[in-house]
Formats: sequence, C-alpha cells, structure tokens
Amino acid sequence: PAYCTLPISRLRDRLTPPLWKLLQKASRQAEKRGWHLYLVGGAVRDLLLADRQKQVLLEDIDLVVDGFHKSADVGAGVELAKALQTIYAGGRLEVHGQFQTAALLWHKNPDLGSLWIDIATARTEFYPYPAANPEVEASSIRQDLYRRDFTINALAMRLTNPRVGELLDFFGGLLDLQSQQIRVLHANSFIEDPTRIYRAVRFAVRLGFEIEPQTESYIRYAIASGIYEQIQGKNGRAPALETRLKSELKYILQAPYWKPALQLLANLEALRCIHPSLELDENLWWQVRLFDRCLQKFDPQKTLEHWQMRLEVLIAYLAPEFRGKVANNLQLSADSIERLQNLDKAETNITKTLSALELKSEIVQLMRQYNLPTLILIAVKTSRPIRQKIWRYLTEWNYIKTPLNGNDLKALGYKPGKQFKEILDTLLTATLDGKIDNRESAEAFIAEHFPLT
Ligand code: CTP
Repeated sequence: PAYCTLPISRLRDRLTPPLWKLLQKASRQAEKRGWHLYLVGGAVRDLLLADRQKQVLLEDIDLVVDGFHKSADVGAGVELAKALQTIYAGGRLEVHGQFQTAALLWHKNPDLGSLWIDIATARTEFYPYPAANPEVEASSIRQDLYRRDFTINALAMRLTNPRVGELLDFFGGLLDLQSQQIRVLHANSFIEDPTRIYRAVRFAVRLGFEIEPQTESYIRYAIASGIYEQIQGKNGRAPALETRLKSELKYILQAPYWKPALQLLANLEALRCIHPSLELDENLWWQVRLFDRCLQKFDPQKTLEHWQMRLEVLIAYLAPEFRGKVANNLQLSADSIERLQNLDKAETNITKTLSALELKSEIVQLMRQYNLPTLILIAVKTSRPIRQKIWRYLTEWNYIKTPLNGNDLKALGYKPGKQFKEILDTLLTATLDGKIDNRESAEAFIAEHFPLT
C-alpha cells in the first residue's frame, strides 16, 4: 500500500467554504466517537485532477467511516449522518440496507446548495486487534475500496486526526491518475458488474484517459462470454442491472462527449449489452448523426429527452420484433416504448401510402397522424425520396397558413360553429394544393363552396 500525506490545505483550497466547513464538522463528530472518516471515490479523483487554486464543484460526495472496534458501531455511517442532520437542519436522511449506508440530501440549501452525501460504514469483520494499529485500521477501508470499479476511484483521503490529509492508495490509483489510465482492481470486475464496462468508457472519454490494455481485455472477455445476457434477463431477470445500465446510458448519451463514447462502446462490442445484434455499422452511425442534426433543428429548446431519443435511434435499428422488448427491459418512458413498438407499422404506412399520394394536402394529412419523434425516427431510416417528403413537411408544409383566419371569416359574416372548422380545413387544403394563394382568391373560393344563406 502507498500512503502519502497531502497538506490538508490542498483539500480546503479546492472546496467551497461551506462544504469544507461541513467536512470539518463531520470529522469532529467522527473523532469524538473514535472513528476515522474518509473522503472516497469520485470526489478524491476530481480533487486530485483539478488544477491548482481551482475550486471543484462537488454535488455528490462519498464518505466512509472506519476504525471502530465495537460491534455497536456497525451503524456508524447512519449515526454520523444523524449527527450531521442535527447540526445542519433541513437535510433529508435516507438509510439504505441494514445499518450500512446513509444518504444526506440538501436541495437548493442557501448555504450548501444541492448536495448529496453518502456515508457508508466500512464493511468488514471486526478485528480482535487494537484499533490504534494502523495496519488493522487500514484493512477495513482497504476492503471497502477493493470493492470499487477503477483504481482512480479507489483512493481515500483521511479527514480525521491523526494523520489528517493522508491519501490511502492501495491499488496504484495515483499513478493511474498521472498516467491517465482506467484500470480495474481485479479480473472479475466486469463479470461482477457489467455496467462497469459503460463506466470505463464514460470515464475514459470524459477524462481523456486510456482504458489500460489488460482492463480492455477483461472487457472483451466479459462481452465474449455473453455477460450481456444477464442484463437482458435470460439467466433469470436482473432488473437492478437494467436500471443501472439505463442510468449509465443516460449519463453517456446526455454528455457533450456522447459521440466518441458511443464509438468506443461499439469498438468494445459493448452495445451488445443493449441487444446482442446491435452493431454501430456505417449506416447506423450515419443515422445517429443525421438524427442528432434533426433534433437540434426541430427541438432546439430540448423539450424532448435527447438522450433517450438517441437511444431510440439505436433501438430502432434493431429488427422490429426486438424493439419493444429492449425498450421495455431498459425501462424507457411509456411513450418511448409505444413509439418503438409501433414504429414499424408507422413506417410501413407512410412508405406505402406516400407513393400513392400526389397532393400536398394529402401528404400533410398523412404526416399529421404522427408526432415529431416518430417522423424523424422514420426519416433517418427510410429511403431518400420519403425522407425528403418528411423533411419538407417538417420544415415547410406543416407551417403553411391559410390566407384567411377565423376572425376574417366572422368579418365576412360566417357564424362561429361547426362549419367554421370545415371551412378552415377546406381553405387549408386549397392553400396547400395551390388553388388559392391570397385573400381575394380565398374569399372567392369560400363564396363558391360555402355560400352565405
Ligand atoms: N462504483 C463502483 N461500481 C459501480 C458504480 C460505482 O465501484 N458500478 C463506485 C466507484 O468507486 C465510484 C463510487 O462507487 O467512485 C461512486 O459512484 P458514482 O457516484 O456513480 O461515481 P463517481 O465516481 O462519483 O462518478 P461521477 O463523478 O461521474 O459522479
């Protein structure tokens, strides 16, 4: 194991003052009870990576309590969370598992902002040695860290005295941070938790790191051994795994780096976790990029969930019979599942019907049956002539207005009522088909078709 002690000022300088204060208070509470408190996981990684003098905005913090020797202390994490909750009124406390972990949450707190702190109790058996022995103290935090995904996420920084600021680096995380490597702690990591394949890709692309070659071979081995079947529920359903895969997919597909991440996932054949037949070939890659341009154009305000729409394009590339099931397994939203289930029918309908239609008004009527996401999903998959018609509908035809509106009709002496809609619809059809193009021709048109009695 490597221990190095960092000046605690390095931590203080990179945290916001309220968070630093909170960690100080947490440490005092732990010390009072004879425990050690560690900052672990992503926060340590991000603090070590941050430029000097630069503050790191942390909204998600993992703490581990360790170093106790009374079995009553098994709920130490929860006890510490409760103590903090008393000091900081207003935080919400959640307890997970039996006495194991507690989460303290603040939402838009005037002092702390939005903050989520997980406090775990180092999970280990109790040793018959005095807790003052550093080797023994370290062993339970070591076990806690050993359960984690990558070396760069398995560093712990001691927040309590004595040896405050000590960095516990059992697996070479510091070196990997410096040499920019994503490395697992043991060969079975991806077999135990296949969602870590997606995490490896996420960290590699986000941090600009390399997946270390041995780790990459573990990923390839896990995929080749059919690990994805666990996710797809073939070896007994594993819904928790699907939920985690979904949240990793969401993380990746909503990040600015989603394109290189998707390519890296494909390169590792990890898209098989979504469906064994899913491959990012040239055609799909083209569709994905075209779809994204459509999303930017037609939904600049992001009223749709873009990450989920990106996932839908991937799923829509599968044979129709798989789409609904995959969307269901991944617990996508109900409208997304329905869209993917009905996509084939919609595509067939549009393809068949369009070829027989000549009038713009008929095309508009056909397209109006479908919403924007369905139309752009179909547009990227279908043949060029159909794509062009969908495109023209979405960019022009859908916005064509009649030269006369409801108020104009009233002014002409028509009474609002059922006939109104019929007149407006007929006017729209005539406008789309080029029979009228200004107020005069429109007035003449309705005088002919809907004479006032
Ligand atoms: N972890 C893991 N295996 C997983 C998920 C999480 O070992 N499948 C561990 C990692 O050590 C990670 C910690 O749990 O550091 C917290 O998880 P999470 O908050 O998802 O990751 P962060 O590293 O904090 O990443 P981010 O900065 O993206 O939130």
